[in-house]
Amino acid sequence: MNYSKKTPRDISLNGKKVLVRCDFNVPMKDKTIQDDRRIVSALPTIRYLLEHNAAVILCSHMGRPKGEVNPKYSLAPVAERLSQLLKQEVVLASDVIGESAKAVKAACKPGQAVLLENVRFDAREEKNDPEFAASLAEGVDLFVNDAFGAAHRAHASTEGVSKYLPAYCGFLMERELEVLGSALAAPARPFTAVLGGAKISDKLALIENLLPKCDNILIVGGMSYTFRKALGGNIGTSLCDDSKIDTLKALLEQAKGKIQIPVDTVVADKFDNDADRQTVAAGEIPDGWEGMDIGPATREQFAQVIKNSGTVVWNGPAGVFEMSNFSGGTRAIAQAMADSKAFTIIGGGDSASAVELMGLADKIDHISTGGGASLEFLEGKNLPGVACLEDK
Ligand code: 3PG
Repeated sequence: MNYSKKTPRDISLNGKKVLVRCDFNVPMKDKTIQDDRRIVSALPTIRYLLEHNAAVILCSHMGRPKGEVNPKYSLAPVAERLSQLLKQEVVLASDVIGESAKAVKAACKPGQAVLLENVRFDAREEKNDPEFAASLAEGVDLFVNDAFGAAHRAHASTEGVSKYLPAYCGFLMERELEVLGSALAAPARPFTAVLGGAKISDKLALIENLLPKCDNILIVGGMSYTFRKALGGNIGTSLCDDSKIDTLKALLEQAKGKIQIPVDTVVADKFDNDADRQTVAAGEIPDGWEGMDIGPATREQFAQVIKNSGTVVWNGPAGVFEMSNFSGGTRAIAQAMADSKAFTIIGGGDSASAVELMGLADKIDHISTGGGASLEFLEGKNLPGVACLEDK
């Protein structure tokens, strides 16, 4: 797939109405935004369009309201935050393609930005319905997709609308494609991937795509116990997908030492932060105990690999990091990434949250705004929200 896409820099914007798809799907609690990174990351594109005298019609999804209007998922707090950040009012339409949206779009003048309500308030968004996409495009001259986090979805506002408008790549999307694309195509070596998370079935495609490209793959998290079992160890009651044992045996054989799995494990007698816990050698987990985190020897060993790498990509926590007693492994990986001179990339999701929580975000070279999207990109899949944009 070609990742070199035309951006607003390549076109004339003066007086044009531009529909911009952003990923404003930010974490919310009681109508308060918990982390505005995705909003701040979209500002360069929005500001560029405003400065070049375009009228900016913003749209996004928030949460999964299942095609129904639900005030819990309103973009009102996002409109407010955008108004603060842009230092100008961003009016929110009360619907997506209805009377309010039509009026707000029509009234939007060059140099102004408005926001449509959550596109997922209409079930036709996720169905990529052509009529819905055509209505989004109505009264608009150009489409800019800056929603990297939603680029793996073929929805009306991420893909369908490109059938009705010339479609360009926003600057956040451009940066994500550039960083993730060059990590895969021409990484500074040694190239290390740290891959974690609970389920091996969610990460197999990722491991298979990265194996020929990487020099080291460090396996952490819940999925590491299935690897350990494939090597013949005792994993107690740890997470395990027996249906994948043969696949992992073949993978380890094919990897010829490139895949490293933990050498020790912090185990607990129940899945609880206050459970009894101890550190044991990996593969020697007593019956009735389960693996919750990588142990200190693994932390040290993996930190050395990260330190000596040229490029490191990290996706997925090393343990049950939401429980403080089992967050040490994830913290150690985050710290090793922050201390490393390698070009460091975090593939969104939980690992990004861990780094943010630890206050290490500014020590990482690139934290992707996409969770599922960066995972699919690193798996080598085509992203529909990127494929539909005009090539350079
Ligand atoms: C995300 O948070 O990963 C993106 O906003 C996509 O959300 P979705 O998984 O609900 O499509």
